[in-house]
Amino acid sequence: MRKLALGIIVAAVSVLSIAAQQPAAPAGCEPSWAFPAINGSLPAEEGPKSLPGSTKSYTPAQIDDLMNPPDWFPDEHAPAPALVQKGHGTAMACGACHLMSGEGHPESAGLTGFTAAYLMQQMADFKSGARKDAARMNAIAKDVSDEESKQVAEWFAALKPAAWTKVVEADTVPKTIVGQGRMRFLAPSGGTEPIGNRIITVPQDQNRARNRDPKSGFTAYVPWAASPKARRWWNQAAAERRSHAASVTATRPGDWATCRGWQDCTPSTSPGSCTCSRTARGTAWTRS
Ligand code: HEC
Repeated sequence: MRKLALGIIVAAVSVLSIAAQQPAAPAGCEPSWAFPAINGSLPAEEGPKSLPGSTKSYTPAQIDDLMNPPDWFPDEHAPAPALVQKGHGTAMACGACHLMSGEGHPESAGLTGFTAAYLMQQMADFKSGARKDAARMNAIAKDVSDEESKQVAEWFAALKPAAWTKVVEADTVPKTIVGQGRMRFLAPSGGTEPIGNRIITVPQDQNRARNRDPKSGFTAYVPWAASPKARRWWNQAAAERRSHAASVTATRPGDWATCRGWQDCTPSTSPGSCTCSRTARGTAWTRS
């Protein structure tokens, strides 16, 4: 996830740098994708909830109790330090937002795959204010002792990271809202819209995510231009432009002379008319 997250950030930066060469971005490019502002809500949940494979049952109020969150699969993790499951003071229970699998939700963070030392350092930085998350972690860390920080860090660091986020290249994505818990959901009204320059992450199963299912992951839709394939494509395009610079002036995809030999390319026999690029779009891959 760290690598994926870093890759997405790097990719997002490269999207900005190539944006000038892209067709005009559609509406919806305001930075709300990076700073989710709540702009909708899903109907309130009702009744006791259960999850596939779990013998437990919780009410929506219990599921959303940040001081005492659900533990759907208690047999599937090592006994957790008290603070993971029960909050005190301003230190809310870590397992609420970061889940009992440590994978977390997109609006918080995944804690698996880190060293205990890294996690402890973050807690110390949240506590001192060197790292800022005024909405949540600064207040939480204030009430976490060094000993507790060590215990929870060691527990989260020992969890095995899962394949949690599936990355899908897409031009068109479902319409979404940012609703309860600052989470992005599919808009109840349905419909689709251009992805623009956004990367958006939605639950693979909204109901399970709302129930804090520690096994139900997310889908990150990325614009084609932000994918690793696109970066290879652009690099290759740049190299081609260089090597043909003397004789070729056209630089756009679709121009036979520049796209000849590219990956994902269906070359045509006549110059000036190849269908190039993007033939492998829509491919999904998961992090490992
Ligand atoms: C109410 C929700 C909530 C609870 C409860 C919560 N966190 Fe967080 N946590 C967040 C959010 C949101 C972030 C992302 C902060 C940011 O990056 O600005 C975060 C980030 C973190 C990070 C940084 C991860 C990284 O990628 O660097 C650590 C470490 C962390 N939390 C540990 C904990 C621990 C330990 C507990 C329990 C004492 C806890 N959290 C409880 C919401 C929560």
